[in-house]
Amino acid sequence: MRKILVITFSLLLSGAVMAQGTIVGSAHDFSSETWNTTGQICIVCHTPHNAKAGYEPLWNHEVTTQTFTLYSSSTLNATDLGQPEGASKLCLSCHDGTVGLEAFSGTTTNTNLITGDALLGTDLTNDHPISFTYDTTLATNDGELVDPSSSTEVAGMLYNGKMECSSCHDVHNTPGIAKLLVKSNAASALCLTCHKK
Ligand code: HEC
Ligand code: HEC
Ligand code: HEC
Ligand code: HEC
Repeated sequence: MRKILVITFSLLLSGAVMAQGTIVGSAHDFSSETWNTTGQICIVCHTPHNAKAGYEPLWNHEVTTQTFTLYSSSTLNATDLGQPEGASKLCLSCHDGTVGLEAFSGTTTNTNLITGDALLGTDLTNDHPISFTYDTTLATNDGELVDPSSSTEVAGMLYNGKMECSSCHDVHNTPGIAKLLVKSNAASALCLTCHKK
């Protein structure tokens, strides 16, 4: 009996330690927000059943219907920059400030909108470009980009071969790294993963 208790306790302990460094307590832990009466974390974005058709994975939040103003510059080599797609569109479904944070599980009100630095808006001209193909051709044309076909790290940051918000961000929070980044940007390490500057 005592043995079982000890094992149960250590399982509980390791569970607690694991949880501390993850989404729990991060900027994406909405379990104690007044607009989230479920007290749950995942439900704001995912649901095990009755997920929204056409979105993955098991998406439960209302999705933005905005048309975004895209990044542009005279030195950009990317040729297929388009409207935010995939997971990037899901990020912007809160971060463009037009969809209520509370708009999940069928709720469609837009009462609690994102504010402050986390508000990107619908004008993406001042944000790092996303939703475009990053391949060998782009790296060659740019001349100062790591070729994804020769870097498993860079290849692993792409989604269907494209740059997305999640190329730089871990929506579920990586332990010890600020701003939900996939890796520390100390001494611009994140930027230098892709940019040869
Ligand atoms: C703020 C929104 C948000 C919250 C909260 C959230 N997720 Fe996610 N999750 C996403 C997005 C967006 C993706 C797809 C993009 C990506 O992986 O970057 C995703 C992907 C996933 C995936 C598939 C890819 C992977 O990382 O394994 C799983 C499984 C998952 N989430 C589980 C969870 C669980 C479990 C919770 C709660 C503990 C949770 N998520 C909380 C937004 C969220
Ligand atoms: C359900 C709404 C929702 C979704 C979906 C969502 N976010 Fe957030 N995000 C928020 C809110 C709310 C905050 C906190 C804002 C604040 O603290 O003022 C936040 C904060 C952040 C921060 C700042 C973290 C910090 O520590 O300051 C980053 C980075 C971020 N989100 C990126 C993303 C990315 C990337 C995605 C998609 C993969 C995403 N978010 C999807 C609502 C969302
Ligand atoms: C090329 C990498 C990269 C991409 C792509 C990217 N971000 Fe970020 N993002 C960063 C970095 C780096 C920071 C931290 C900036 C800082 O510390 O001041 C950041 C910060 C943020 C913040 C916090 C702002 C603040 O000042 O607190 C939010 C919210 C955010 N990003 C959301 C997004 C969303 C949504 C997308 C996709 C539309 C996205 N990011 C795409 C690199 C990126
Ligand atoms: C996962 C890879 C990746 C990461 C990480 C990344 N970038 Fe980029 N970045 C790219 C690609 C690919 C382009 C498109 C280049 C092109 O089309 O010429 C780009 C474009 C840019 C541009 C626009 C270039 C132009 O000609 O208009 C700037 C500036 C930039 N990145 C800065 C940064 C900074 C600063 C960071 C770190 C916060 C960063 N990038 C992180 C891949 C990345």
